[in-house]
Amino acid sequence: MAFVRVAGAHDIPVGHGTLVESNGLLFAVFNAGGGRYYACGAICPHEDGPLADGWLEGDSVVCPWHGFDYDLETGTCRVDPDLSIPVYPVRVVGGAIDVDVP
Ligand code: FES
Repeated sequence: MAFVRVAGAHDIPVGHGTLVESNGLLFAVFNAGGGRYYACGAICPHEDGPLADGWLEGDSVVCPWHGFDYDLETGTCRVDPDLSIPVYPVRVVGGAIDVDVP
């Protein structure tokens, strides 16, 4: 795993996400406000919804298709505990967002 620069810290509005591609991997990066950012897989495992188009509620992302929400610390779905998404470490360096991708 290695940190990859994906966006400027001010490129993503608070409470929203953006779709990022790196080394063939698609993932979603979210700005939770207060300097907190999260990165996770881009596809909802329920029915393949676009998580980057979802929104944050606390430290969870809500899928825009059917409302399943996922804890962005653990990746666990709060609606169906059998579902989960990959989550990736994020750091902010010099005003840029880096994600530790596999
Ligand atoms: S596709 Fe995400 S909740 Fe159904």
